[in-house]
Amino acid sequence: MQEFLSHVKQGLSQSPKKLSSRYFYDAKGDALFQQIMKMDAYYLPRCEMQIIQQQSEQIAKDISTSHSGLQIVELGAGDGSKTKHLLKQFGPYFKPMEYVAMDISPNVLAINEKLIKTEVVGINHRKIAGNYFETYKNLTPITKGRLVLFLGANIGNYPTPEAIDFFNFVKSNLTKNDYFLVAFDLVKHPRKIIAAYDDHNGITKQFNLNLLERINRELGANFEVSDFDHFPFYNPITGITSSHIISLKQQTVEFPDGFTINFEAFEAIHTEVSKKFFWSDIEAIAHQSKMRIVQTYLDQQKAYAFVLFQPHA
Ligand code: AVI
Repeated sequence: MQEFLSHVKQGLSQSPKKLSSRYFYDAKGDALFQQIMKMDAYYLPRCEMQIIQQQSEQIAKDISTSHSGLQIVELGAGDGSKTKHLLKQFGPYFKPMEYVAMDISPNVLAINEKLIKTEVVGINHRKIAGNYFETYKNLTPITKGRLVLFLGANIGNYPTPEAIDFFNFVKSNLTKNDYFLVAFDLVKHPRKIIAAYDDHNGITKQFNLNLLERINRELGANFEVSDFDHFPFYNPITGITSSHIISLKQQTVEFPDGFTINFEAFEAIHTEVSKKFFWSDIEAIAHQSKMRIVQTYLDQQKAYAFVLFQPHA
């Protein structure tokens, strides 16, 4: 709460103004994100599911050349409804197989445990609630192989220098025979990308503006949310979709401690980066974090990729 308040004050005092997308995900934000994932325009989950269903066995085969037992660690595991399909196909290839689900939410992890234990036979399930930057760091090293999963195209929400830091962080708890599997949303026609972040039903708008509602709810500010709009744009040169909240008029917002923020008419708050990757971007991240690309797995439209990395020997 104290950290949220100081991040919000700091971000809104900058020029240009900024709020972090990590604060999207309170209970309302989670529910809106579930709705986004069901939208026709938001193609990402369907691409991901296609790769999981059609290529998990190949991924298992590729990894099983170096390991017979496997610990699978998922960062930001969620409810397990996607991962269960991957784990089912991994089952015949690894004995023993342990799945360590890491997520900030204990509630979500309880759902994950129930689902995985009932649907994946012979798996060892472990759940670790908390911020995975803490929990992963403290995970004990193992002698059998480890595969770290980072799915959902979440890597796209990190600006590139932070994505490289994140790769280095994951690598710090891998041996040279371990693997890191990451889902990347690839560059594609700009109109398809922008449609995914600017739906006609305004669900993504609600998701973005929920950030202001959350600041009102939790920090007692007085944002008049209807005086703000959602505005995303995609830059095909950089591959970055940037989401913004636009102040529709000149206005002042107050916090309970007397702190105020002034907005000019049509001033923007930057809220999110959703990067779409060129292959050269993925190669550059691998190179800069001293990982090698072992294999790539694409959906049929080549719109989305799972990339399997290993630390350089
Ligand atoms: C969670 N993350 C990968 C989503 C994305 O596509 O960047 C969050 C999101 N933002 C707007 N729509 C979905």
